[in-house]
Amino acid sequence: MTTDSNNTARTRVLTGITTTGTPHLGNYVGAIRPTVQASLNPATQGFYFLADYHALIKCDEPARIQRSTLEIAASWIAAGLDPERVMFYRQSDIPEIPELTWFLTCVTGKGVLNRAHAYKASVDKNNAAGNDPDADVSAGLFMYPVLMGADILMFKAHKVPVGRDQIQHIEMARDMASSFNHLYGEHLVLPEAVVEESVALLPGLDGRKMSKSYDNTIPLFSSSAQLKKLISGIVTDSRAPGEAKDTEGSALFQIYQAFASAQETNTLAKAYADGIGWGDAKQILFERIDREVAPMRAQYEELISNPAKVDAILLKGAAKARELATPLIKELRHAVGLRSLASHGGTQVSAKASRVTVPSFKQYREKDGQFYFKLVDPQGSVLLQSLGFNSPKDAGLAIAQLQQVDAKVITDFGTQIGLGEGVKLAEVTAALEALRTELAEKAKAKG
Ligand code: TRP
Repeated sequence: MTTDSNNTARTRVLTGITTTGTPHLGNYVGAIRPTVQASLNPATQGFYFLADYHALIKCDEPARIQRSTLEIAASWIAAGLDPERVMFYRQSDIPEIPELTWFLTCVTGKGVLNRAHAYKASVDKNNAAGNDPDADVSAGLFMYPVLMGADILMFKAHKVPVGRDQIQHIEMARDMASSFNHLYGEHLVLPEAVVEESVALLPGLDGRKMSKSYDNTIPLFSSSAQLKKLISGIVTDSRAPGEAKDTEGSALFQIYQAFASAQETNTLAKAYADGIGWGDAKQILFERIDREVAPMRAQYEELISNPAKVDAILLKGAAKARELATPLIKELRHAVGLRSLASHGGTQVSAKASRVTVPSFKQYREKDGQFYFKLVDPQGSVLLQSLGFNSPKDAGLAIAQLQQVDAKVITDFGTQIGLGEGVKLAEVTAALEALRTELAEKAKAKG
């Protein structure tokens, strides 16, 4: 859980779409529609983005990547995604992502990446063809899971809705997060894949999975007439009107099911049994899809003819997303040792040995015989510094007040407790909050 500005815990849900093609009905049913629905859940905070760095791995046509980015962004918005409500951005507008990719690259075993499905499939294919195992395999393809890990870990996502083929990538992202945390302290959140069982894999025109690579797709946005024409091309068997039809294995039926209510689906099943003609069934399918898509068409068209407007939306989204990414990358740079040479902790023992993850109070006695304390953050920077107390009990009481009440009580102590150099009160408040959470969790674990 993350705490937002309203102090409410919200689950962060994040997913991206690679910008290599024109969105089709399969993308709509499998990714666009479910994310739009999920974005309406007030208990979650959505992060939805256009994975254009990933697109470079698969596509070397600049114009196509640019067009696809526009089309997917416009589809998402036309389908109801509200950029004000969620984080909606383009991956390449977040320079922190490639930087985090490098940090993760350095904590990821090469052997782990050797086992990634997409890379392995290419190697297997080469081996089968008697080619060099890495023939035509770019290092980009090899690194695909790390870039994806950075997308996810950058925003401390808890849940990542993906298709089955992507589960392995989320598991790898988890491993990267735990390796990083193990080495450098608890900075990253371990994400979980969410595979929506009810989101059917949509068959395409030829009955195989709807996919660009099979060239069997129906674009999400085309004219009504075009949609009708494409639907008329869906494969069916040769049964004549009047003959009962099988719903099982019928691509037409499966596509209908992805759009229709349970009741509508039952009605069509009955019509199949009663021997509906394929032409009539296709007309029913066309009308059902058109009913869902027609209201979005105008906005889609409007956005496509105003690319500057889409750019502005994405840039605004990126600025919002970077409010989270910039401080995190700063924290991570510091954690790994890319930091000011004068900063505290510069000569400290390795982070591995001192895995402090939350701020902590340190009490100590000085040569003057008095009792002091300071509050330090996980990187060792001083957030609060006290002057001397006469007894350890007095110092302890002051700490207890800070912990139980709020950072604001430091004003009650006059000059006795001061902020660390360059530290803002809000940072101390946040640190105390983190400490409280930690203590509460420890208490809970104890039972
Ligand atoms: N690899 C995903 C796909 O092809 C797209 C993607 C890139 C993604 N980065 C992501 C999905 C992060 C979820 C989270 O479908």
